[in-house]
Amino acid sequence: MPYEYSTDDKLDRSTNSWMLIGVVLLVGIVAMFPLYRSYEPSSRDGARQAQSASLAQEGESIWQLSCASCHGLAGEGGTAPALNSEQFLQTASDEQTATLIAVGIPGSQMSAYSQDFGGQLTSQQIKALVTLIRSWEPNAPDVPDWRDMIGG
Ligand code: HEC
Repeated sequence: MPYEYSTDDKLDRSTNSWMLIGVVLLVGIVAMFPLYRSYEPSSRDGARQAQSASLAQEGESIWQLSCASCHGLAGEGGTAPALNSEQFLQTASDEQTATLIAVGIPGSQMSAYSQDFGGQLTSQQIKALVTLIRSWEPNAPDVPDWRDMIGG
């Protein structure tokens, strides 16, 4: 029965090619996972960096208005400690810095800035300041005596 045989052969070939397509698709889908995994964190990193840059920018304008007069325009210090100091930035965590800004230092010129403590800044604005201060860290100068104030 040559006729039937050739039909089976055709069916076989057709089945084989569909299986091949299936395997190719499967491999393609499986390959997507590592591709996605390698792309996704970098896109999240990018978003985080962009967000942090815009926070730092917001912090910069608050800094100039509310902090620069004592701490210096670039955080170099003045009548208040330098915050643009490698040593200060290594010592203080973001949480500590945020708390200091929020609550102030009683008995000093450093007043409380959080609205919760009678100041004028929202927690978002304090976060922006902390982001700005942290952004100095990679280029922060060596200032071990950052608390030595001019005339303070
Ligand atoms: C009127 C002057 C003045 C202004 C304005 C001011 N500070 Fe201060 N700040 C000080 C003084 C003085 C100290 C140190 C107090 C002490 O240790 O006795 C200080 C301390 C700090 C510290 C702790 C530094 C350390 O050595 O631990 C931080 C952080 C800080 N200020 C952030 C800010 C930020 C942010 C702003 C703006 C929202 C600001 N300050 C505005 C005077 C000021």
